Amino acid sequence: MAEVVVVPDPDTGGQLAARTVLDTVRRNPDAVLGLATGSSPLPVYRALARLIAEEGVDVGRVSGFALDEYVGLPPAHPESYRSVITREVTVPLGLSPDRVHVPDGDPARADTAGEAYERALAAAGPVDVQLLGVGTDGHIGFNEPGSSLTSRTRLKTLTEQTRRDNARFFGSVEEVPVHCVTQGIGTILRARHLILLAFGAAKADAVAAAVEGPLTASVPASAIQLHAHTTVIVDEPAASRLTHLDYYRHAWANKPAPQHI
Ligand code: GLP
Repeated sequence: MAEVVVVPDPDTGGQLAARTVLDTVRRNPDAVLGLATGSSPLPVYRALARLIAEEGVDVGRVSGFALDEYVGLPPAHPESYRSVITREVTVPLGLSPDRVHVPDGDPARADTAGEAYERALAAAGPVDVQLLGVGTDGHIGFNEPGSSLTSRTRLKTLTEQTRRDNARFFGSVEEVPVHCVTQGIGTILRARHLILLAFGAAKADAVAAAVEGPLTASVPASAIQLHAHTTVIVDEPAASRLTHLDYYRHAWANKPAPQHI
């Protein structure tokens, strides 16, 4: 079962996840971080940047692998995940740019980008800590409903719902690419520790389906149930549809190693 931690606000959730990431890097200076885009992991990156600076942690050998990339946006486009990861993660954390990987979204290589990314992951990995958000339709990375639970990095078509959800980052929904290259669910499950973050009422159904619903390709995030070490960090609105919420609170309050995920 995933450990569910209900936090008062996203910043508190970000600090909790950031502390875990930092502990991982202290134990292993060559740590491999799994990086998610979207708004949910931003509090983690903010907290992590602060902790790295305050505590003087050397991240020079840390590497990072993004979950996904749009196909057809030039890498310099402000909303390409290459740009987002550079802006939100690589620069603020002070990671070495040549150790931060994002799938290749060039349409000319879209067919082979997945295999190339799997090779790079296999050479550097496994990922020590994988940060995840969740789409309102239950997607993780860009694995839309129906994605195989054993899938690897590959070219995918986005759902119209995801394109509408992500239109806020673009001028209009028409500007959101139709295709992407995303790590597969099987790829994500190879990470040692999954941390899924979800905040706000719009995520309540997806969180409940991921944590407590049947394991099904129709809700890709339900694949976290297959992983032995998953932490789900949610605020009250995102937790509101969980049936066993009282138990999760009880387990967290009585955890032998409190405040450590
Ligand atoms: C995008 C990303 C996902 C992310 C999702 C949710 O579709 N590819 O990795 O989890 O958005 O984004 P947000 O955290 O902004 O709700």
